[in-house]
Amino acid sequence: MEKLPEKLLKKLQERDGMNTLRQLNIRPNLTDFSSNDYLGFASSKSIADRAYKLFRERGEQMNGSRGSRLLMGNDRLYEDTEKSIAKFHSSPSSLIFNSGYTANLGIISCIPQRGDIILYDELVHASIREGILLCRASSSKYAHNDLQDLEQKLERITKDTGRECYVITESVFSMDGDSPNLKALVTLCKEHNCRLIIDEAHAIGITQKGIVVSEELTKQVFARVVTFGKALGCHGAAVLGSEDLKAYLLNYARSFIYSTALPPHSVATIKAAYEHLDSEIGLQSIRKLNSNIAILRSCTEKYKISACFLPSDSAVQAMLIPGNEKVKAISERLFKEGFDVRPIMSPTVPPSKERLRICLHSFNTETEIEGLIKLLAEITL
Ligand SMILES: Cc1ncc(COP(=O)(O)O)c(C=O)c1O
Repeated sequence: MEKLPEKLLKKLQERDGMNTLRQLNIRPNLTDFSSNDYLGFASSKSIADRAYKLFRERGEQMNGSRGSRLLMGNDRLYEDTEKSIAKFHSSPSSLIFNSGYTANLGIISCIPQRGDIILYDELVHASIREGILLCRASSSKYAHNDLQDLEQKLERITKDTGRECYVITESVFSMDGDSPNLKALVTLCKEHNCRLIIDEAHAIGITQKGIVVSEELTKQVFARVVTFGKALGCHGAAVLGSEDLKAYLLNYARSFIYSTALPPHSVATIKAAYEHLDSEIGLQSIRKLNSNIAILRSCTEKYKISACFLPSDSAVQAMLIPGNEKVKAISERLFKEGFDVRPIMSPTVPPSKERLRICLHSFNTETEIEGLIKLLAEITL
């Protein structure tokens, strides 16, 4: 077997030396404060049973989709699921992608054209950044959730005529757990005649249909990305927007065109997960998750560590613990005590912004949450 080139081996050694080498491991089942399975849908038997029924009803049983959606990979289950997703999120259409990563890559790489401009929040997800790298438009970041900074940049840009401008952000940020002021953002984009693309990956769970729906902004947003690997507990993603947008994406989004479609059983699981989210059990899980978020915030006050937490009303709660070594050691200590909380180290976040990323779920108990915060106070104060 040929060896990895020397310079790449060196890069791995450098990471190892800095204690930031990523490795795959299988961890025992601890108290889950780490997965994105915010509502516990990933292990729901009723979703699994319903998905199996939908899959059987579909007729011919297939292990794989046999190709891109544009070739053999499409079928009625896909079409039905897209229709119900669009209706659920109050969108004219939806187009399923194989993951949130490929949805962002697909839409952002093909919509903004040469000469257009993209303004994006400095903390957007890697998949959005990579979409920006692939497209031919010019781009500039604005300070995190800072609409004044965005406005200044918009004022400079939109004086140039003939350029389309796109603003890209998330409705809940994956590492900080905070949100932009969406109503103000929509108004700003309208004033400056630019189109808004919003990634709602982490907004489902704390809301049923995303923040754009709960704030009644669907008509003012150009495109939304919803993902199924988080609160929906399965896999895949969809771009929500106009019928024209869908037609354009299936003609030009390369991550959609040149990849084998999700297999039918995955699509059946997505449909079943949406039905579950739309049920009373789904609503109960959302209420429980939001109550757990309030419990965690009040525990951080009680144990006097609230100042270490970034402001967040979402399922993602970040406790800043600067220094890779330190945050890793604390995560390991929590692990020994039975809590699965992952450290987020630089370079994933900027140096000195290292943190524990605590993910809350509907199934976490009050005792577990208080136990975690009490222990964190003992370790860190
Ligand atoms: C904001 C955001 N967008 C997109 C993605 C990618 O989604 P997926 O895991 O379905 O590829 C993630 C995943 O972490 C995310 O946090």
